[in-house]
Amino acid sequence: MDRAAIILAAGAGTRMKSALPKVLHQVAGLPILGHVILGLKSAGVSRIVVVTAPGADSVRAYARSLGADSAIQDKQLGTGHAAAAAAEALKDFKGELIVAYGDMPLLTKEAFEAAFAARPKDGLAIVAFRAADPGAYGRVLLDKDGMLDKIVEFKDASADQRKTDLCNAGLMVAEAGKFFALASKLDNKNAQGEFYLTDIPALAKKDGASCAVAQIREADALGVNSRRELAQAERHMQVRLREQALAAGVTMTAPETVFLSYDTRVEADVEIEPFVVFGLGVEVKSGARIRSHSHLEGAVIAGGAVIGPFARLRPGAAIGEGAHIGNFVEVKNSTIGKGTKANHLAYLGDASVGANANIGAGTITCNYDGFGKYRTEIGDGAFIGSDTALVAPVKVGAGAITGAGSVITKDVAPDALAVARGTQTEKPGWAKLFRDLKRKKRD
Ligand code: UD1
Ligand code: CA
Repeated sequence: MDRAAIILAAGAGTRMKSALPKVLHQVAGLPILGHVILGLKSAGVSRIVVVTAPGADSVRAYARSLGADSAIQDKQLGTGHAAAAAAEALKDFKGELIVAYGDMPLLTKEAFEAAFAARPKDGLAIVAFRAADPGAYGRVLLDKDGMLDKIVEFKDASADQRKTDLCNAGLMVAEAGKFFALASKLDNKNAQGEFYLTDIPALAKKDGASCAVAQIREADALGVNSRRELAQAERHMQVRLREQALAAGVTMTAPETVFLSYDTRVEADVEIEPFVVFGLGVEVKSGARIRSHSHLEGAVIAGGAVIGPFARLRPGAAIGEGAHIGNFVEVKNSTIGKGTKANHLAYLGDASVGANANIGAGTITCNYDGFGKYRTEIGDGAFIGSDTALVAPVKVGAGAITGAGSVITKDVAPDALAVARGTQTEKPGWAKLFRDLKRKKRD
């Protein structure tokens, strides 16, 4: 059966206290809504409609960038009312529909699949979890056969109903036509005066349909309503990403100190020392070592390379096999060849460095004049003396040497030595004479 989804994201998100819509806040480098959309896609959902508030252009644009449609809920009258706002966008859809909340970044492919799998033929399924602290979640009440009796919202629940730890995660699966028919029958006679999505199963049961309950882990069901919950979601996501990396054969001596992005790709037999941050778009190949306190973003690192400690790789950094990028070295939009070493205190921006070159301490590519960016090319085996300023655009040929402290403004031929610095002069005995004179005056 074809699968479509409605993602509810029209709520005001007031508890976030943010100018940014709640679902665009990021977890592991991806907006919360992105996690929900990618998760649904991985579970075979081909058509996705995101329900937004009227002013939320940025949410609609983001949804579109991930191939999802959107619908507008004019007024925030509740989750059931929000789901009904997607009816028009899905009027030609025949198949299974899943409704998900846009504020749940930790839902996995398995959670979505469990929801689909649980649905009885001609019936509904919802997803629940057992909460350590059920707080204000909707409560899930089961009948004697373990099927759903009903969902009761916290504010509407009796003291007795509140005692259960089985909570509504917020996923519902139904046949699309039936779902919209039921959604149009919802009322708002409840504690919050809202049209609750969670009243749909009870309506379905009146029509003789049954409703099954799939269970997922609590950590996967977390909804983000506040900054505190956002931080909690990040923590759970980091645990998950670290576990995945360890299971894939990555060595981490202190995984709890390593921060990964949702798209970080680290191969087996990579070693990551404590306190490393992976921003978006990093790929590390087998056999590389990332040393402590390094910050990486948009970089590809080949096997045998050693990065850090205290290195910064920025977007477009491509580090070759066995290359060394040492402490306080920043690399941006540059390829560093096989075996090349930049061990200390350097900035390499918009550069192409060949193989087996040596970049001395204090080397700087002067790539920017306040208007444009210019490239520096350094050939194989070149030796850039310490504190060389390479004023781009400029080329240093293969095997060439630049003298320490040089400001290189012109191309250097292969195998040449270029020295561009003041000539050293010497005045014999001058220092002693100077001191003697000063002391005499003072004493
Ligand atoms: C909801 C459930 C509750 C469940 C909990 C799980 C209802 C009535 N309650 O409560 O049973 O335990 O999630 O996290 O469904 N939204 C709209 N339009 C609206 C209202 C909400 O689009 O008019 C969206 C929000 O943007 C949000 C989602 O629906 O993404 C859930 O709304 P929220 O207010 O966070 O519901 P909870 O109180 O958390
Ligand atoms: Ca919520």
